[in-house]
Parts: sequence; C-alpha cells; structure tokens
Amino acid sequence: MKIVIRPERKEDFEKITEVNDQAFGQPEEGNLIINLRKTTDFNANLSLVAVDVDNAKTVGHILFYPIKIKSDDSEFQTLALAPMSVLPEFQRKMIGSKMVTEGLTMAKNQGYKSVIVLGHVDFYPRFGFQPASRWGINCPFEVTNEAFMALELVEKELDRTEGVVVYPKEFDDV
Ligand SMILES: CC(C)(COP(=O)(O)OP(=O)(O)OC[C@H]1O[C@@H](n2cnc3c(N)ncnc32)[C@H](O)[C@@H]1OP(=O)(O)O)[C@@H](O)C(=O)NCCC(=O)NCCS
Repeated sequence: MKIVIRPERKEDFEKITEVNDQAFGQPEEGNLIINLRKTTDFNANLSLVAVDVDNAKTVGHILFYPIKIKSDDSEFQTLALAPMSVLPEFQRKMIGSKMVTEGLTMAKNQGYKSVIVLGHVDFYPRFGFQPASRWGINCPFEVTNEAFMALELVEKELDRTEGVVVYPKEFDDV
C-alpha cells in the first residue's frame, strides 16, 4: 500500500468529514474541522490527508491548528494537533504514525516551533511528546497530566514558554 500525505484540497472536504465520522463514530470531530476551516487562523497547508494512491482513496486526516499559550505577561504561538483520524479498516497499519511524522516536519518547515496534543498516552510519546506540565503549560480544562502533551520542533523552544493553552471556541462543541 502506497500512502501519500499531502495538504487538503477542496475536493477532499467531504471525504475528510467521512473519515472523521467513521473513525470517531460520531459527527463532532468532522463538524469541528468544517467550522475551523471557516476561521482566519486555519492553515490549509497543515490540514493533511492520507491517500491510498493505488485506489485513490482518502484513508486518514490530521489537523494542526494554530493556537496560543498565554500567561499574564506573555503569549506564544503554537499548534494544536487535533483531531486526527484513520478509517477503522485502515488502522494499525502505521498510517497515523506517517501522518504525525510528516505533519511535524511540514509544521517545522512552515516555521512553527512547538505542538500541543491532548490524546492517547500510548501513542503520542513515540513521536517525542511529553507531558506539557513539564514546561508549566496547562490545559484550560481538567485532564489527566499524562494525556496533555507538548513537543518542541525547535530545541529548547518551550523552556521560555509557560501558561494556559487557549483553544478557539469551535473546540467547545467536541
Ligand atoms: C488514533 C489513530 C489516528 C491512529 O492511527 P493508526 O493508523 O491506527 O496508527 P498507527 O498504525 O500508526 O499506530 C498504531 C497505534 O495507534 C494507537 N491506536 C490505534 N488505534 C487505537 C485505538 N482505537 N485506541 C487507542 N489507541 C489506538 C495505538 O497506540 C497503536 O499502537 P500499537 O499498535 O502499538 O498498540 C486511529 O486509530 C484512529 O483514527 N482512532 C480513532 C480516532 C482517534 O482516537 N483519534 C485520535 C484522537 S487523540
């Protein structure tokens, strides 16, 4: 199976919703992407699809959405890795890992310096994510410490960062 990871195009929009609906078994994440796409901060170059090229089938999607980490006297630009999804019948074939790895490289190449994720504690650490609390970075709502993670794309970038992650209101519905 040859999988290519590339930025979304307009003709991918419906398939991205379908992949999310099937992976999560609910419409909230697909709708979140539709709503975030309408915001000015949305970066289509970091809304990536995984395509099975032999069958021209969209099998996965990952979004890196620009957000901020704020404290009383500072504000840092970062990215939220959310949501990500692979069609159920294509899971555990390393497609998710390929989307994360190539997505992180694309994000770094576009000048981003760090990424935040709230998610599976047995999945994201394999890419270098560590509990965000290590850097004094907190989630705006209650989560388990290990599940709220951060990754430096530029070494030591997060050493000068602390505060609370601010998600856009569109995330409230998920
Ligand atoms: C999480 C997900 C994107 C991973 O994609 P993938 O292509 O299956 O991932 P890979 O094959 O690269 O890696 C497999 C790893 O993903 C994790 N994983 C896969 N399916 C999982 C599931 N249903 N629950 C928890 N972890 C899962 C496991 O850590 C697995 O590692 P293992 O095989 O060593 O146990 C995919 O399983 C998915 O779409 N899940 C449903 C939606 C979801 O939970 N999204 C993430 C929100 S944080």
